[in-house]
Amino acid sequence: MTQDVQREQWGSKIGFILAAAGSAVGLGNIWRFPYVTGQNGGAAFVLIYLAIVFIIGFSVMLAEMAIGRKAQLNAVGSFSKLAGGLWPLVGWMGVAAGFIILSFYAVIGGWTIKYFIHSFTGLMADAAAGKAGDVFGGFVTNTMQVILYQAGFMLVTIWVVYKGIGEGIEKYCKILMPALFLILLILIGRSVTLEGAGKGLEFYLKPDFSKITGASISAALGQAFFSLSLGMGCMITYGSYVDRKTALPGAAIQVCFIDTMVAILAGLVIFPAVFAFGVDAGAGPGLTFVTLPSVFAKMPGAMIWSGLFFLLLFIAALTSAISLLEVVSAYFIDKGWSRPQAAIIMGLLIFVLGIPSAMSLAGAPKVAGKDFLDAMDFISSNVLLPLGGVFISLFVGWFWTSDAEKEVTNEGTLTFGLMSMWIWVCRVIAPAAILYIFYTGLKW
Ligand code: TRP
Repeated sequence: MTQDVQREQWGSKIGFILAAAGSAVGLGNIWRFPYVTGQNGGAAFVLIYLAIVFIIGFSVMLAEMAIGRKAQLNAVGSFSKLAGGLWPLVGWMGVAAGFIILSFYAVIGGWTIKYFIHSFTGLMADAAAGKAGDVFGGFVTNTMQVILYQAGFMLVTIWVVYKGIGEGIEKYCKILMPALFLILLILIGRSVTLEGAGKGLEFYLKPDFSKITGASISAALGQAFFSLSLGMGCMITYGSYVDRKTALPGAAIQVCFIDTMVAILAGLVIFPAVFAFGVDAGAGPGLTFVTLPSVFAKMPGAMIWSGLFFLLLFIAALTSAISLLEVVSAYFIDKGWSRPQAAIIMGLLIFVLGIPSAMSLAGAPKVAGKDFLDAMDFISSNVLLPLGGVFISLFVGWFWTSDAEKEVTNEGTLTFGLMSMWIWVCRVIAPAAILYIFYTGLKW
């Protein structure tokens, strides 16, 4: 059994924070956040999103990190060790969610590879001619090609997980996250100075609460869980590789902050461009891939910018995808499988499950009227992740409370000023809010 073997650990505190931020920052921030915001009315949605992140998201993230570090095990194993009974089912639900999310995530990850390459092979000329939408439509309906790129993306993901914690995941996140941040700042400069950008800024920054419905609040909740990598044991798994000296509350708040910054910045790039180029803000999953090439095409050195951006988007997606595969693999590794075995076998299964999502971009298959990819996204983001969040909160708030308090204060050696707020959010506020949002807003 692997029990006797020393558990792998992050090399440093900053390594852990960047790896966790690497998990959080991904397609969720740059691809999903803008289009979900666009579909749900803009600025008012963003405000609701921020409130959810810093009240519910932060609390659930800290809860997950504490559970993982205490138990030193994967999502399922942590619940068995700390509680037993039916609790491991929460971990199981997480592993299932990880399977589902990565299956469609890798499809979009594949788009980033395609767009990176195509940046140098004609995308800029087409975008300059106003045909970015046609290029996108042509690509996603070419199913064979989409599946090939999806396979490429999965292969790289498997490879990094295969390499392990310090030498794989941590090493890459440390370099790539700061680079992404920098390029976003440069792109904002270009985007907000486009002619007609003002309307986009208004849509994005001036709240109109009449646009908010139950469904949009539920979408904000789903987006928060997805973007922060919460509700499925990802932060439990990453927390299990943290040493006993790291202060968890500080780490959790930093990860929430970095993740939110990147999402907000991505919106500042996308929305001015959406309005400047007359794209429909509610256009859905293609939004980023249609508007950004048009922005790049207007910059000197278009190819370079476009190439650089899609390279970084690929990397952001990769550091998230590895965390999804890590959750699934860690379960089997703690069961005694070798790391390569777990990474390869699970990676291949997830690839196969993703094929219908890749095909659905061309219009079929559908699940109860939704595209397969949208359906997988909806079930995981809007149902499984928030539900996981409810159980994780209840666990900390009611069943494991005094141990949780010890864990987040490193056995009482540091103070955590928000302790009682955290406990009450876990106990009542988060579960009640999530269930209420479910009840009023969950709309297929
Ligand atoms: N947070 C990532 C993103 O924003 C996606 C992701 C990685 C994720 N790990 C997760 C989502 C775990 C939910 C749960 O792109």
